[in-house]
Amino acid sequence: MRSHYCGQIDESLVGHSVDLCGWANRCRDHGGVIFIDLRDREGIVQVVVDPESPSAFQIALRARSEYVLRIQGVVRRRPPGTENSHLFSGAVEVAGTSVEVLNRSEPPPFAIEDGTEANEEVRLRYRYLDLRRPEMLRRVRMRAEVARLVRNFLDSHGFLDIETPFLTKTTPEGARDYLVPSRTHAGHCFALPQSPQLFKQLLMMSGMDRYYQIVRCFRDEDLRADRQPEFTQIDIETSFMDENGIMEMMESMVRELFSRVLGVALPNPFPRMTYAEAVHRFGSDRPDLRNPLELVELSDLMSEVEFKVFSDPARDPGGRVAALRLPGGNDLPRSAIDAYQQFVASRGGKGLAYIKVNDITRGRAGLQSPIIKFLSDEVLVEVLNRTGAETGDVIFFGADRASVVNESLGALRLKLGEDRGLVLRGWRPLWVVDFPMFEYDEPARRWMALHHPFTAPRVDDTDALRAAPGAALSRAYDLVLNGTEVGGGSIRIHRPELQQAVFELLGIGAEEAEEKFGFLLKALGYGAPPHGGIAFGLDRLIMLMTGSASIRDVIAFPKTQTAACLLTGAPAVASKEQLRELGIRYAQSASQGGPAASTTAR
Ligand code: AMO
Ligand code: AMP
Repeated sequence: MRSHYCGQIDESLVGHSVDLCGWANRCRDHGGVIFIDLRDREGIVQVVVDPESPSAFQIALRARSEYVLRIQGVVRRRPPGTENSHLFSGAVEVAGTSVEVLNRSEPPPFAIEDGTEANEEVRLRYRYLDLRRPEMLRRVRMRAEVARLVRNFLDSHGFLDIETPFLTKTTPEGARDYLVPSRTHAGHCFALPQSPQLFKQLLMMSGMDRYYQIVRCFRDEDLRADRQPEFTQIDIETSFMDENGIMEMMESMVRELFSRVLGVALPNPFPRMTYAEAVHRFGSDRPDLRNPLELVELSDLMSEVEFKVFSDPARDPGGRVAALRLPGGNDLPRSAIDAYQQFVASRGGKGLAYIKVNDITRGRAGLQSPIIKFLSDEVLVEVLNRTGAETGDVIFFGADRASVVNESLGALRLKLGEDRGLVLRGWRPLWVVDFPMFEYDEPARRWMALHHPFTAPRVDDTDALRAAPGAALSRAYDLVLNGTEVGGGSIRIHRPELQQAVFELLGIGAEEAEEKFGFLLKALGYGAPPHGGIAFGLDRLIMLMTGSASIRDVIAFPKTQTAACLLTGAPAVASKEQLRELGIRYAQSASQGGPAASTTAR
């Protein structure tokens, strides 16, 4: 049907006949001559139809936006002065000799162009139109290109692409499962995989040596701008490699992606930082290193001060007092500081003490603050020293349980960086390593796995692990890029006794372990090799690489914030017959109609 893509027509084709198929991006009637911008996947070309081709002209007159047209014509140079430097085809146009309407279109609910004003709900409802917009197409293409490069890289490094089941048992990755009731086993459910974690480990036990899969994962969790209920992992596992080998190979893959797709040279090697240092300096285990602000430790300094707001947490082993200096920040008016205080409160912080440094040379008299009356000269001098304060700065303080200080000052650090335009451009990858094995869940009064229960401890000693679970470090690593966790993995436990011990520490008793993971424990007893791996979030990676604000913009058919599909209306009410076959009766009947609509706001 077609000889060329619209977006490929250029000066080399002048004088040639072409046969084009595409959508009418815009139709204009210029006093007896009709201009049609014809668009396809590769771009746009201008077609001119004049009355000298009477039948083509009559059809062109009736063409409207988004009609599907087939146009034959001859490529010619545009008259001087009418070239369009924004179009690849902008030096030429096609003199149309034949126009055929392959299909008509209703007027689209929004213009098919970049920077649309349409709200996201409408875009999602008409996703097939939204995807016609060039910026969406660019993202979809970049995603396909990244997937292709990843496959090439992994294929050439000896990884086998192996599929794992979707109808399976629970994989504990910290979210709720999506369940699929079984018809043939009444009262039983499959769980959709939160990740292929257990299967990829079993593949190592099968001797596959190197596995990968670009695979959908399902997690019923609270959604955010960088989370979807079904998302795609580049999932990888290998035997007989340690964490250094895995990190080196994986970062070379990421470097290759950035170099080939974006022409960006990422550092070699990627820097590494321990979890403890990341939390200490940035209040977060996924620090955005483009932001120059850092937390400064004051716990030791504040234990003896009069101000109980500081001294209580400073003395508490689980507490923390930290400062955050904002260079040039003493111009902030009271109202701005109040707003930051509210921001911190929304992250659990009880207050936001501050000191404005009006004149560093004047000692106490040069400082302005509601709290300096509680602090001695020595303490003040040390605060200024440690934070590196200069005239014109403001220093903020957080004092509370360490987790609250880290969460609230860590978030304030990011907000100040944005608000004050301090975030540098560019790409700052970082491996975060030496995660704790466990964290204590106070309300539940039990240990939780920081990564997942199959992650190996640094010290391969069950007694030491049991004696001090809180002190144990794991062999896990996360790849953080500009403050987003794009991948995470670990060396796994490959001995059944150690896996049993970790289950016990997590409060998974022998019976429950047997019921949930008996197959894994058994497999570990049949010559499981040392193994480890990683999974990258493909959607997040593409979101960063395309500079998109939302993960929904890099998924062809995403779900809303309440995990619904506005295009198809999923999830939908199941028929009585289906439920009867599955032996299911709902305690409450579902509301009729599709899932609730206004659900895309962040
Ligand atoms: P983890 O749970 O860290 O590890 O997931 C790996 C990566 O997947 C991405 N990701 C998500 N992306 C979009 N929406 C979500 N809801 C979502 N959840 C996670 C993140 C994350 O870094 N089995 C282990 C990996 C391993 O140990 O090999 C796992 O799934 O970018
Ligand atoms: P108060 O003594 O409650 O009036 O607080 C004096 C100053 O300390 C105010 O600026 C509060 O915002 C601040 N403040 C109170 N609690 C905390 C806290 N947990 N961390 C940091 N600053 C705090």
